[in-house]
Amino acid sequence: MPLDESVRASIREAARLIISSKYVTALTGAGVSVESGIRPFRGPGGLWTERGEPPMDGYRRFEEDPKRHWEEMLSPVRESRFGDSIREAKPNAGHYSLAELESMGILRSLVTQNIDNLHIEAGSKNVLEIHGNRLKLRCVRCGERFPREGFDLSTLPPRCPSCSGIVKEDVVMFGEPIPRDVLESCQTEASRSDCMIVAGTSAVVYPAASLPLIIKERGGAIIEINPLASDLSRISYVIIRASSGESLPALVEVLKKSG
Ligand code: APR
Repeated sequence: MPLDESVRASIREAARLIISSKYVTALTGAGVSVESGIRPFRGPGGLWTERGEPPMDGYRRFEEDPKRHWEEMLSPVRESRFGDSIREAKPNAGHYSLAELESMGILRSLVTQNIDNLHIEAGSKNVLEIHGNRLKLRCVRCGERFPREGFDLSTLPPRCPSCSGIVKEDVVMFGEPIPRDVLESCQTEASRSDCMIVAGTSAVVYPAASLPLIIKERGGAIIEINPLASDLSRISYVIIRASSGESLPALVEVLKKSG
């Protein structure tokens, strides 16, 4: 569906802001994967809209009995349509556009709240996965990460080959602190950035939602890409009220023409 003139005007304004900025970063949320067939969590069609926000005690329950957590996680009963949609999903034009902005030397880094690996599959290199990655495991003691594929799960809970600590999925659970390494990298990027493209997030989950606020407080500018208003709309310098899969390719085209 062609973008209407008001959206095109906001895309041109966003391009002007990006060109005049020194260090452009991005923050993405579930909305950028909607056009890959993965449901968002909140808003229309959201998983939590349908089921209610999940309890915040997932990590506490894991710590109480990691062996039971792993047995539940590995049980075939656990398969879900949502899990299937993530496994089958492919990057969409929005993911590829962000990877292209990086290869054009415009986008310095990309923080994503998504665990679906689609930014990496689309070719983005400097990706900070603040909520983890579904294809990885992580030691809760030393923080080392491992590919999930091929990891020895013959004994549960699995143990870290480096320090024998307990290993869990890299995906950050509700109630689990964000791993220090990735949180510090995200905060460093936000402290360097004077312009952040914030696409596909309701901006209600912290600390991810604090990153655009750091940039705003330092005098930087936020570009929001979201068909609906979010908690960030009021502080956004430019609002592109459209889907990321349609507006990001248009933004790349405008930037290429002005290059
Ligand atoms: N393009 C851009 N944005 C979209 C699109 C689209 N095609 N479709 C929906 N959106 C917007 C919605 O309007 C909404 O504001 O994406 C946002 C998705 O918000 P959430 O579902 O809350 O996702 P997110 O912000 O990533 O959630 C943060 O919450 O449950 C936790 O860990 C989970 O990482 C997730 C975190």
